[in-house]
Amino acid sequence: MSGPLEIHIARPDDATFIGRIYDEGIADGNATFATGPHPGEERERWLAARPANAPVFCAHRAGTPMGWSALAPFSHRPWYAGVAEYTVYVAREARGAGVGGQLLAHLLAAAPGYGYWKLVGLILAENEPGLRLAHAHGFRTVGTHLAHGTLGGHWRDVTLVERHLAMPDDAGSIEELRAPR
Ligand SMILES: CC(C)(COP(=O)(O)OP(=O)(O)OC[C@H]1O[C@@H](n2cnc3c(N)ncnc32)[C@H](O)[C@@H]1OP(=O)(O)O)[C@@H](O)C(=O)NCCC(=O)NCCS
Repeated sequence: MSGPLEIHIARPDDATFIGRIYDEGIADGNATFATGPHPGEERERWLAARPANAPVFCAHRAGTPMGWSALAPFSHRPWYAGVAEYTVYVAREARGAGVGGQLLAHLLAAAPGYGYWKLVGLILAENEPGLRLAHAHGFRTVGTHLAHGTLGGHWRDVTLVERHLAMPDDAGSIEELRAPR
């Protein structure tokens, strides 16, 4: 399928395909601890309940849904208000063709507008495409949580990745923060 990828903020009528693509990722067993299914009505309620700093975006090509992405606050603690966790899901048949990369690049560009200075990703350690996607977009691996949760009765490790976006004016430069301490 050709044509540009169009990315827009999710609308209620995107809920059904968001749930379908989410359930594909769940069925593949390397994306999330969540369990499905996620029918459209459930995803519609999920969309409606999200706060203003937790946007969901949808990607279409020539009118066909290709994937979706989201930002969500990393913590309820106010001092982490600038840190968001990102999510990217691409339809099974559309993977490996750069859609995930475009969705993540779009999130990186949009995130400062929602008040974020850093994105983090929590990626199951065996999720090679998920890790490659993050590294290809400038995320560094912070480390791997061992046996962080169970999926289908098996303990799974979770790798934490992060990328700074910009710093609040009074917090000093990112380079200073990255210097060994
Ligand atoms: C992870 C995911 C979003 C990647 O989306 P995608 O559209 O296939 O990714 P892209 O085509 O943009 O490729 C991104 C990187 O992953 C690599 N990649 C893609 N498919 C891969 C595969 N099956 N195995 C290994 N690497 C793969 C690409 O080579 C690329 O890395 P590079 O730039 O170093 O070459 C997609 O596989 C997916 O939806 N998985 C299920 C949900 C999930 O795991 N999300 C990640 C956690 S938020």
